[in-house]
Amino acid sequence: MSRRPLRTFAYGHPWFYDLVTGVGSLPVGGTRRLRQLCAQRLAQRLPPQAAVLDFCCGGGAASAPLLARGFRVTGLDCSRQALERAARTCPGLVTVQGLAEQPPLAPGQFAGVQLSLALHEFHRPARLELLAAALRLLQPGGWFVALDLHPTHGLLGWPQQWFVRLFETDTAVDFLASNLAADLSRAGYGDVAVEILAMGSLQLVSARKPSPSLAP
Ligand SMILES: C[S@@+](CC[C@H](N)C(=O)[O-])C[C@H]1O[C@@H](n2cnc3c(N)ncnc32)[C@H](O)[C@@H]1O
Repeated sequence: MSRRPLRTFAYGHPWFYDLVTGVGSLPVGGTRRLRQLCAQRLAQRLPPQAAVLDFCCGGGAASAPLLARGFRVTGLDCSRQALERAARTCPGLVTVQGLAEQPPLAPGQFAGVQLSLALHEFHRPARLELLAAALRLLQPGGWFVALDLHPTHGLLGWPQQWFVRLFETDTAVDFLASNLAADLSRAGYGDVAVEILAMGSLQLVSARKPSPSLAP
């Protein structure tokens, strides 16, 4: 993995991470709107009080909009420091420390799984493990929603490439060359839908765990 000093700095200094995220989120109307995107899609599909997992929740920036909608939210992350921040900033969030590829959670317990800006942190084998784990954790008919980078060659093509060079690891390069929708279909998800946002630089992908009662 190539070294990204700015990335290490950003992870150690939340204000700098927030600044970079703020600039990067301008095309969708700012950080607040960015963090709402997955929660909005889940709220269109799930009843209030539904159990939702925020996979790789970090400091809880995208958990808060789920809680604000009345969902019962569990946040999983491998970083204890991030989970402590999430617990401080998101009262009501149940935090679990663990690996997303092998989550220490019982299967079939969530109506929704959200993955906000985290998939690009995984190499392909781990990414596929994570998608399979999310499918196991979902109830039949439950929804998976992911927000992440999308390769753009438009106006944001160069800024995106510089962002990835300065802040991201090789996993982001690998992710940008992949097809998330196809990977979800291969993993066994149905109803896969992709929305392209932020002048092509982001993708918001929804998919559903098939349910015997939903079969045609
Ligand atoms: C870019 S942050 C995104 C945080 C949050 N979802 C958001 O929207 O702000 C990615 C998070 O993934 C977590 N992460 C990376 N690899 C992980 C793994 N294998 N298992 C669980 N969490 C992981 C990191 O600790 C970090 O908090």
